[in-house]
Amino acid sequence: MAETATLHIFRFDPEKDKSPYFKTYDVAITAKMNVLEALLDIVDKQDGSLSLRYACRGAICGSCAMYINGSYRLACQTMIANLNPSDITVGPLPHLPNIKDLVVDMTPFFEKYERIVPYLIRNSAPLEKEIPQNLKQRKAIDEMIDCILCGCCYSSCPMVWTHRNFLGPAALTKANRFVQDSRDEGLDQRLSIVAGEDGIWRCHTIFNCADACPKKINTTASIQDLKRKTIARRLHLA
Ligand code: SF4
Ligand code: FES
Repeated sequence: MAETATLHIFRFDPEKDKSPYFKTYDVAITAKMNVLEALLDIVDKQDGSLSLRYACRGAICGSCAMYINGSYRLACQTMIANLNPSDITVGPLPHLPNIKDLVVDMTPFFEKYERIVPYLIRNSAPLEKEIPQNLKQRKAIDEMIDCILCGCCYSSCPMVWTHRNFLGPAALTKANRFVQDSRDEGLDQRLSIVAGEDGIWRCHTIFNCADACPKKINTTASIQDLKRKTIARRLHLA
């Protein structure tokens, strides 16, 4: 393995720069180094002005989502050894407002997440103790609860790019996570939100979101689930 990696990094400081540009850095690498570690090495040893967002370093918090070599990835999960170390391009998540360098403004993403009511709805007695689920009930939400809210799917979705109010794959998948949850009692409320003008019918089944997800969640299938559920409900079949 090469001992040096060359990274071309998107730079933009709105207080100084008229337009974005890429700056190239060479980094001494080790066998198990990931892209986040290379970026932090640059910050420590070469250029403290480089801005990026990260927290857990373990593919759990979702904050280091970036556009690496033309793919949506978590920087902390992307091993340099799996890339061509002489030519690595790192940019911020596309189609989200840029704050500085690799940091984007996630406000539109989280505003839409809030719109789908991302918590259990209980219309019956208030929750006083745990509501048990059997294995089958738990299995129904297994994949969707792995979402770490990284925004990769949202950033990759052409319908988000063209219809700025579209709820997007992450919020819709979260809605489906509660629709499928045996403990939730908000089905009609949820379906009226997701089947509105900014919801499921905007999805053209492009599958970019499912391809982009670092947790391998099939977000497109989730949106299809919601379409089926909405139709079944309207036909009084569910
Ligand atoms: Fe990230 Fe996947 Fe969740 Fe989308 S569904 S926010 S890509 S973890
Ligand atoms: Fe938390 Fe990468 S730093 S997912």
